Amino acid sequence: MSRRLATMRTSTEQQVAAHPSLSPWWRSAVVYQVYLRSFADSNGDGIGDLAGLRSRLPYLSWLGVDALWINPHYPSGGADGGYDIADYRAVDPDYGDVADLEALVADARRLGLKVVLDVVPNHTSDQHPWFQAALADPEAPEASRYHFAPASEEPPNNWRSLFGGPAWSRTPDGRWYLHLFAPEQPDLNWRDPAVAADFEKTLRFWLDRGVSGFRVDVAYGLFKDAELRDNPGTYSPTLFGHGPEQAMTWNQPEVHDVWRRWREITDEYPDTMIVGEVCLADPQEVALYSRPDEMHQSFCFRLLKSGWDTEAFADGVRSALDAFGSVGAPVSWVLGNHDKDRQVTRFGGGALGTARARAAALLMLSLPGSAYLYAGDELGLPQAVVPDEAKTDPIFFRSGGARAGRDGCRIPMPWNDTAGVGFSPDGAADPWLPIPADWSGYAVSAQTRDGGSMLTLYRRALALRAAHPALGSGEARVETAGDVLTVHCAGDDETVRCVVNMGTETVLVRTTGTVLLASSTSVRQSAGSIALPPNTAAWISED
Ligand code: NOJ
Ligand code: CA
Repeated sequence: MSRRLATMRTSTEQQVAAHPSLSPWWRSAVVYQVYLRSFADSNGDGIGDLAGLRSRLPYLSWLGVDALWINPHYPSGGADGGYDIADYRAVDPDYGDVADLEALVADARRLGLKVVLDVVPNHTSDQHPWFQAALADPEAPEASRYHFAPASEEPPNNWRSLFGGPAWSRTPDGRWYLHLFAPEQPDLNWRDPAVAADFEKTLRFWLDRGVSGFRVDVAYGLFKDAELRDNPGTYSPTLFGHGPEQAMTWNQPEVHDVWRRWREITDEYPDTMIVGEVCLADPQEVALYSRPDEMHQSFCFRLLKSGWDTEAFADGVRSALDAFGSVGAPVSWVLGNHDKDRQVTRFGGGALGTARARAAALLMLSLPGSAYLYAGDELGLPQAVVPDEAKTDPIFFRSGGARAGRDGCRIPMPWNDTAGVGFSPDGAADPWLPIPADWSGYAVSAQTRDGGSMLTLYRRALALRAAHPALGSGEARVETAGDVLTVHCAGDDETVRCVVNMGTETVLVRTTGTVLLASSTSVRQSAGSIALPPNTAAWISED
């Protein structure tokens, strides 16, 4: 960072501290993640699209979110839900065209919503013209934009694909090429300057069209050990992310320079931001990606990966607040996304899982920082059982069926209680993933009318979060007593306590404060105390 920029930033930070209203929007934004293919289908081909999403923007505005992040909308080889991009400066015809995206951004802006796009710099599709050129001619300049190794019996090292199997596959002429995900997703070589130059063009292409920033896929990737040394260990699915056992494939020091450059670019566009997907075991390492001259935010996945356990949640919140606080970045909380089983199912399924998901939503929405909501979590959708023959996720196929894959959290949204749940217009083709028979029971139309629904809870919570700066923008202190987790959120004029009972007995919370919102009608207030049954939460204003 230049000295002038450093001085400017310091003075901006001082102004923000003195006038919280000047705080950039993304520091405490509620961002709604739209799984585009499953959100709303406008033309009846069974695939969600940009025009469908545009028609549902009033819903997002009514719900009360600040921004939407759209999963990849680019032309793609279709091998990994759009995360295999064939053209970074275009829209997949399944979803519309660039004019549709511009119209979406314009409509969103009129409704006060910002649009954040997904960008995938670690790998392209094998259909990308660069990879095709590199396959056709090993001497082509495009070949050095990927990781190729000469033909040999064994792959160059022991690196494994995160989707299962080796991270190396062979080209038809016998060379090896690296893919840390599916074989259809060859990894880019970021040591070739042509790669960085092309991504800068991509960022500007979309920023010039009015988008408010990017969610960066695999932001802890990009560079790999230059000598291709073996990793010292194997991936353990029980870790929160990658640790020393994958030291050669992830989190190489050079990657931070990419984020410094991307920050300079977004700094040219007012009010834009970058949020990175950084799956590393150590929260301190994750936070380093959000130092003042790097990405604005990086996701905190600890709550997403924690079971219903007081200490796990408390540690997840504390460690994130400490780590991100130490670099001056807000925490970006995540409880659900398109890669993980739905919360209701993770937390036990049925009424129990739903009660816990309601309580967890209140916890997340109380915490200082930004909150990322995954489409359908506001409806309490469970993880759907997808028949094997309908599955599309490479994780299912590459694990030989041992891992169920992620299709079950990507089912089309239920909008109403008609047979097709209002996802597509009448008479449309079958939806791209089968919709379970009971899906209309979760429909937006029914939940809007139901004062006790998950949707109503989310809408109330978002309205209260907007009205009470202690929620989402306060100073948080975490406390546990047995199975009760309390977050004290201190604002300038008010302290709101979020109390979550993660145990099996009703607890009495002593307070003379006011319950702003409870996750269940079974939470009862009487003189001087509140009775909080198991698996419930309440927001209590202590003013
Ligand atoms: C993370 C994305 O969230 C996931 O859906 C994708 O499969 C991988 N990155 C590879 O791009
Ligand atoms: Ca469509």
